[in-house]
Amino acid sequence: MDLSTPWLGMRLKNPLVVGASPMVDDLGTVRRLEDAGAAAIVLHSLFEEQILREEQAAHRVFETSGESSAEALSYFPAADGLSIGPEEYLELIQRVKSAVAVPVAASLNGTTEGGWLHYARLMEEAGADALELNVYALATDPWESGEAIERRTRAMVRAVREASGVPVAVKLSPFYTSFAHFARQLDQEGADGLVLFNRFYQPDLDVEALDVQRTLRLSDASELPLRLRWLAILSGRVEASLLATGGIHGALDAVKALMAGAHAVQMVSALLRHGPEYLGLVRDDLERWMAEHGYDSVESLRGTLSLARCPDPAAYERANYMQMLQSWRAPAGW
Ligand SMILES: Cc1cc2nc3c(=O)[nH]c(=O)nc-3n(C[C@H](O)[C@H](O)[C@H](O)COP(=O)(O)O)c2cc1C
Repeated sequence: MDLSTPWLGMRLKNPLVVGASPMVDDLGTVRRLEDAGAAAIVLHSLFEEQILREEQAAHRVFETSGESSAEALSYFPAADGLSIGPEEYLELIQRVKSAVAVPVAASLNGTTEGGWLHYARLMEEAGADALELNVYALATDPWESGEAIERRTRAMVRAVREASGVPVAVKLSPFYTSFAHFARQLDQEGADGLVLFNRFYQPDLDVEALDVQRTLRLSDASELPLRLRWLAILSGRVEASLLATGGIHGALDAVKALMAGAHAVQMVSALLRHGPEYLGLVRDDLERWMAEHGYDSVESLRGTLSLARCPDPAAYERANYMQMLQSWRAPAGW
């Protein structure tokens, strides 16, 4: 059984990648993940705000003009509340790289084009085999158009591409007016991979305490269909590797993502819930399922349910939408 798959211009031994999370801060856990069969590892993000804070501290800005000169930073958790700073992050790359043989991707997370992106080069020098650029942002500015946001993100991708000699994947949210068009633009900017999709952590309200409740809810497989839809639509329409993140909890979820057109799938919540060895169970289940269903390679599975050959995915989607709505029947005895 050939589970190997292309990923950002490299070849992975199987399509199961450990997605970005602090899980891999611990070298013991990283080794357990590799032993369980993880094909690649993505480190948690280094955030633009962390880099800016460090650089501002270096320039003693905090002692002089204080936080008033950087209003946005005042919303950021105090530096000592963060996991690790930029320098420690680069050391983490080196430590993880020396602990495992599988490819290791570092993650840069931010929203603006700026000097902080030079960390792309530093991450490569620290040994990262690839970079993931996470552009998580909520578009809250009534004066900023969707086009302006997309232009800014394209400029970021271009800057990281230019700064770095290793492949760059872009981790996106689904909230773009014309996602397929934007994905193609990123493809043209040279993005080597598109990671679909960021999860937005939805705060709830505590009406008694008059407070916002922030809880980190792990995902479940109900988040997968949104990813499947866009993998299927983009498959065959972009050069970049397609990577699924969000809702991959078992082998069947991975099969679905691969059939929709993913080159690899990332897992986080399932591993946080069940432990690193769970990845090995998913890998074995994947191999078993493929053998039982007559697939001898991931290549033969990939894209079998994509919309690559569909001349008009939008019409197909609308047809399904109409059919779904009109198929509703009142339950007996209503
Ligand atoms: C505790 C935790 C920490 C995370 N940290 C990061 C991060 O630093 N950078 C990032 O891009 N995504 C981060 N994520 C998002 C995951 O990489 C992943 O995209 C998301 O959890 C969806 O995948 P899942 O359904 O397998 O959990 C984090 C998720 C969790 C649960």
